[in-house]
Amino acid sequence: MKLYDVYPLFNVNIVKGEGCRVWDDKGTEYLDLYGGHAVISIGHAHPEYVKNISSQVATLGFYSNSVINTLQQNVAEKIGRISGYEDYNIFFINSGAEANENALKLSSFKNGKKRVIAFKKAFHGRTSLAVEVTDNPKIIAPINANGHTTYVQFGDIDRVREEIAKGDVTAVIIEGIQGVGGVQIPTTEFLHQLQRLCNESDTTLILDEIQSGCGRSGKFFAHQWAGIRPDIITQAKGIGNGFPVGCVLISPKFQAVYGELGTTFGGNHLACAAMEAVVDTMVKENLIENADKVGNYLIEELKKIDAIKEVRGRGLMIGMEFEEPVKEIRSKLLFEEHVFTGVSGTNVIRLLPPLSLTMEQAKEFITRFKRVLDK
Ligand SMILES: Cc1ncc(COP(=O)(O)O)c(C=O)c1O
Repeated sequence: MKLYDVYPLFNVNIVKGEGCRVWDDKGTEYLDLYGGHAVISIGHAHPEYVKNISSQVATLGFYSNSVINTLQQNVAEKIGRISGYEDYNIFFINSGAEANENALKLSSFKNGKKRVIAFKKAFHGRTSLAVEVTDNPKIIAPINANGHTTYVQFGDIDRVREEIAKGDVTAVIIEGIQGVGGVQIPTTEFLHQLQRLCNESDTTLILDEIQSGCGRSGKFFAHQWAGIRPDIITQAKGIGNGFPVGCVLISPKFQAVYGELGTTFGGNHLACAAMEAVVDTMVKENLIENADKVGNYLIEELKKIDAIKEVRGRGLMIGMEFEEPVKEIRSKLLFEEHVFTGVSGTNVIRLLPPLSLTMEQAKEFITRFKRVLDK
């Protein structure tokens, strides 16, 4: 059997990781400024993570959500504390798309409405509702094109107001920082206005923090820079550090109903062991503060480079926009300088390293990056 060929691959086989470095099958070492697409938060093969998951799998790998699982309650309390959302409830699922899918369902269950406002260039995942609120017609199959979504220009509050006034909008969904859209940060004023409009109209404000959350921006959630409190927050990626998990954080305004949501694997024992190790390590190693400090350093240094048209971002979610496509720069970084980076669209290089990136590693990246640009 062959693999269903949907991924254009770099010709590299990564077989080992440690901290912010990975190695290929030929023993070549790479500096990881990509974090497997914002997934690796506390670092590859972190000893605490390895220990927690190993001891859990040796004890009980899985049982179902039909019995008490105290590990879930334990992780819920830890996520509540680290995020500042102790009064919210949490629903565990397996991925980012599923987290958004359930957030949208909850919204519609609550207010009975069906239309969603999403933003141009948004990415929210590939399950049916998540893909329908994603602004990319190429990945929306005819079966998913059900007319639930109105896409509004990022930042256009007047248009959001007009749409909400029509009375049929269940939710507004927005990323804490747009990733695929080129690392675009919503302004504080825009987020406040969205929150106000949603509160006034019984519309659910959903913050997708799947990529920008879990400490990446230098606060636990990127929207916390604006001081808002959305009705629902979704997260995935970094909270599992590679173990597939997703979470829906739900305001106390929502009343849980038995059977309304459900999952086989969500919140399983291994997922809880992974999330617990992530949160404990983030606290113990001050990784949120580190993301802020090292991110600020990188942003300042990158802004000094003339070849870059614009540097955007917060903490360790950084976009560098160039006038021209970045394919060649990225490829040189990987094959000549042995640095992994990400991309947004054609002209933006995206940095999403583990939050444990040190100042020395950040400096090492700047040196290697400049060497590529100078060639
Ligand atoms: C902002 C955002 N939302 C949702 C998703 C979907 O997450 P997953 O791939 O875990 O389904 C992603 C993944 O890249 C994302 O970046």
